Amino acid sequence: MMTDRALRWPLPKHDYWSTPFAESLLLHLDLGPGLRILDVASGHGIPAFYLAEHVGPTGQVLALDLNQHQVARARAIQGSQLPWLRFDCADMRALPADLPTFDRITGNLSVMFFRPKRVEAVRGLIEHLTPGGQIVLTFPSLGTFASLWQRVDQEMVRRSLPRERARFQEYLAERPSVHEARGWLESQGLERIEAVEYPLEVATGPGHEFLYHPLLRGGFLDDVYESFEDQNLADQFMTGISEEVPRFVPLIAQRCVLSGWAGA
Ligand SMILES: C[S@@+](CC[C@H](N)C(=O)[O-])C[C@H]1O[C@@H](n2cnc3c(N)ncnc32)[C@H](O)[C@@H]1O
Repeated sequence: MMTDRALRWPLPKHDYWSTPFAESLLLHLDLGPGLRILDVASGHGIPAFYLAEHVGPTGQVLALDLNQHQVARARAIQGSQLPWLRFDCADMRALPADLPTFDRITGNLSVMFFRPKRVEAVRGLIEHLTPGGQIVLTFPSLGTFASLWQRVDQEMVRRSLPRERARFQEYLAERPSVHEARGWLESQGLERIEAVEYPLEVATGPGHEFLYHPLLRGGFLDDVYESFEDQNLADQFMTGISEEVPRFVPLIAQRCVLSGWAGA
């Protein structure tokens, strides 16, 4: 195994979201030279570059993302390096039928995008796993930022916002729990299943820092805003919440790692 100091493609240290999730993925991934890996929801290459360096020229990494801009960005970073790594555009919920099988399938921060048919999406991936192969996926599981959602819920009750509250609860219910995710792999007959959560504290201050926090705004706070039909009311509501940050810190994300092995 290469030491981190010898790596040319370590996980980026300045990335405060993808890198901690990828670190937890790597705790469970059995990685070594010569493996053929499919990395889904690959974005701009976390952890595809890291994986490619570890499988080496006798291995292969195919990194797929739905968004062509992400693929273009990853290819620009790659240039002519690591020629056994390829970035392509594809929907991981409907992989091309002629795609071969792989020794490992990884997906860092991927499970959130399996909607609407999550089990089918997982099944589709597992169909591309070689016998004896391993799949490892990560996502922020139910319980992520629970202290904030509790405060939002209390405030919706206090302000008599039943419709907004009902819609917000629907968003929350969409977030899979660690137990639900384990069930997906069990239902597909995988073996040696692990479904583990690693807490990660996300630091923020009150006001603008909270409202425009890059990790909170995309995908998390947006759920609260989208629960309101009246966006002026949403802004006013969230401004109030943002002033109370000290009441609901620490903000803890649950990094959920889901791993399983296909029977040999
Ligand atoms: C949160 S990012 C994670 C990217 C990368 N794995 C990382 O850790 O930085 C999720 C990625 O999933 C991609 N994505 C969303 N839905 C997808 C789908 N159905 N198929 C493939 N990629 C998808 C997005 O374009 C985005 O790049």
